[in-house]
Amino acid sequence: MNRIVFLNGKYIQEHEAKISIFDRGLLFSDSVYEVTAVIDNKLIDFPSHIERLKNSLKELNIINNINYESLLKMHKELIKKNNFSYEEGLIYMQVSRGTIERDFLIKDKDIKPNIFAFTQEKKLTNINFKNSGLKIITKPDIRWQRKDIKTTQLLYATLIKTEAFKMGFDDAWLIDNDGFINEGTSNNAYIIDNNNNIITRDLSNKLLPGITRKTLLEVANKLKLSIIEKPFTVKEAIKSNEAFISSASTLIAPVINIDNQKIGQGNIGPITEILRETYIKISKNNSI
Ligand code: PDD
Repeated sequence: MNRIVFLNGKYIQEHEAKISIFDRGLLFSDSVYEVTAVIDNKLIDFPSHIERLKNSLKELNIINNINYESLLKMHKELIKKNNFSYEEGLIYMQVSRGTIERDFLIKDKDIKPNIFAFTQEKKLTNINFKNSGLKIITKPDIRWQRKDIKTTQLLYATLIKTEAFKMGFDDAWLIDNDGFINEGTSNNAYIIDNNNNIITRDLSNKLLPGITRKTLLEVANKLKLSIIEKPFTVKEAIKSNEAFISSASTLIAPVINIDNQKIGQGNIGPITEILRETYIKISKNNSI
């Protein structure tokens, strides 16, 4: 690929973008990130992504002078400099604590965060789910206890997704020690019960507060759909009428099978479909 990427204030060819082997993100996963969806060459839910980034930086005590306006300008510039096919895709942005001699002890002095960002081509809106959807396997959640912070410590999620794939599934949902589903490997998880209640786990340190989730709950409210934020079990998920996931990289995508049990009719359910369509419509109206 021949992208123009952003690294520490400069727009350069991707093969020229180099970072020190002493970057703490590289050595300790001492870094946080955001992924923002782009539709019609415009940014979806951008203010909320930056708000969450600031919160992640605060939780890790990463000292920075990052400001909203410069990040917005940088994201817009990357869209301009890289032509998205279908005018859709993602922008990945990472901020690490910075480059310093390897040491478990964090010596804040003189460390300047390393910031980089790049575009990724991805079709987001024009996907036909009439006869398709995701096959999910459930797996134990053995990640650390601060899943509410969006760090780049993603090894378990990538290993378990790959294992799921090898077993013929599209993704995994991660279960806590009490048998409740926390979230997917890189998305939030939802079911719709027999009374048409949309159920998703309430926010805590057990899951990432998804930005798509936040907008989706507003959309569901507007549509006068009933939402219950509470834990749900694998058993409840298997008995559900519909199930789906949300993330910046999938928006809203139907789940048609959990642990080899068919969900609903094996295609996108009517409520998931309305939610996906309305989410896309409202997000496009609010994009910048
Ligand atoms: N992942 N939960 C986890 C563990 C995630 O990694 C993500 C996003 C989400 C959904 O969050 P949002 O709606 O803000 O995208 C939930 C991104 C897309 C990624 O890592 O590529």
